Amino acid sequence: MAIQPLEVLRRTFPGIQDPEELAQLAQLARQATYPPDTVLCREGAYEKVLYLICEGEVVITKRFDSPEESHLVLRRATSGEYFGEMAIISDAPRSATVTTTKETTVLEIDQDVFRTIIERNSDLAMQMVRQTFERLRENDRMTLEELRKAFQTLEKLDRAKLDFIEVTAHELRTPLTIMRGYASMMLADPVIRDNPLLREMVEGIATGSQRLHEIVNNMLDVQRIDLAQVSVAAVPVSLPLVLRGTEMQFKDALRQRRLSLHMDLAQNEGDGGIYIEADPGLLSKAFYHIMMNAIKYTPDGGSIRVTLRYEDHPILERAAHVQIADTGIGIDPEYHTLIFEKFYRLGDVQLHSSGKTAYKAGGPGLGLAIARGAVLAHGGEIWVESEGHDEVNFKGSVFHVVLPVQAAFRQKMALLRARYGE
Ligand SMILES: Nc1ncnc2c1ncn2[C@@H]1O[C@H](COP(=O)(O)OP(=O)(O)OP(=O)(O)O)[C@@H](O)[C@H]1O
Ligand SMILES: [Mg+2]
Repeated sequence: MAIQPLEVLRRTFPGIQDPEELAQLAQLARQATYPPDTVLCREGAYEKVLYLICEGEVVITKRFDSPEESHLVLRRATSGEYFGEMAIISDAPRSATVTTTKETTVLEIDQDVFRTIIERNSDLAMQMVRQTFERLRENDRMTLEELRKAFQTLEKLDRAKLDFIEVTAHELRTPLTIMRGYASMMLADPVIRDNPLLREMVEGIATGSQRLHEIVNNMLDVQRIDLAQVSVAAVPVSLPLVLRGTEMQFKDALRQRRLSLHMDLAQNEGDGGIYIEADPGLLSKAFYHIMMNAIKYTPDGGSIRVTLRYEDHPILERAAHVQIADTGIGIDPEYHTLIFEKFYRLGDVQLHSSGKTAYKAGGPGLGLAIARGAVLAHGGEIWVESEGHDEVNFKGSVFHVVLPVQAAFRQKMALLRARYGE
């Protein structure tokens, strides 16, 4: 059946009431037929044509900025519909790509012709504005729906990852405990103890299984934190004591790696003394992991500085602010948030050296996720400052931990002190 441009225009634009105008537009419109899979509009391109579909079908898609670059189908349009109006009304690049799905015949109207018509026909202009708004709303709805689905999938994947961590960690724990038990029994045996070769081998088994045991425990910690299963058993805690305890744990490592550690810890906090209300076990874990990183990512001979200050805080009122600064390799700003995600680690996996506290020693990427979980469970904040990764000048990183000093608790301490003295 032959296509009647006038008929198509009347059907598509009921807003144009003047027959002469319609006839004029029909004359200026070009009719064209395209085979399937022809791209009529290309997202991002400046094109000045409006299309009316006489026969056939097109699909309108939008690019998603993702590493895999996927396309979202916004809608399909068939006979009697138009497309390409948004870009020519607002003089903007195409916001989507339009491709024919079968042989399609269209009427093409150039921008200047179409603009003149629109300016003369307020009904048509209103009709197009309404339709454009509806389309934008529909696009928004679809994009949000797509995001919701993607989020749900990610949540499921994350959940599956946590389940896997839990099963693996539990499966590994039993054989590891047996290995550690036998290794320590063997080390106690005089035959092995007195044989240097055997002793070294068994010590190797003991250290290796101890390291594995720690990784398994980290896996379980991260899993508990992610499932929000951490409970804070809050008691009066002396932060300087916790920080000094962390220093003790790394004494050997610091010596072996020739790293100097300087502690600058404020001791007095007005009426509240040096205590904060916190879970000492959980806090020790957080500082352990941050300190471990400061050691691992600082070259031999570098220095680590730990400072503790009490300060006013807009939300927490009074807060303890711990900073752990190193002269290490630093972290590029784009990773400052990501490194706190579980299993997120930087650098080439192949290049990592082994050994728990060796320079750039490998790790599964759990330490900072545990530290963040522990700090957040206290209602605190954690973040990193670093100019960037630099293995020439070693400008280092500063990890900040801010913890609330519970106001009620400070009052209690002041009362006790007033009653019983220092
Ligand atoms: N002080 C630091 N200096 C430079 N980079 C750091 C520092 N702390 C952490 N990073 C970077 O952040 C990443 C994540 O740290 P995280 O402690 O979570 O994992 P990990 O140290 O690799 O492994 P794990 O702690 O589980 O043994 C590290 O792989 C490292 O690239
Ligand atoms: Mg770590």
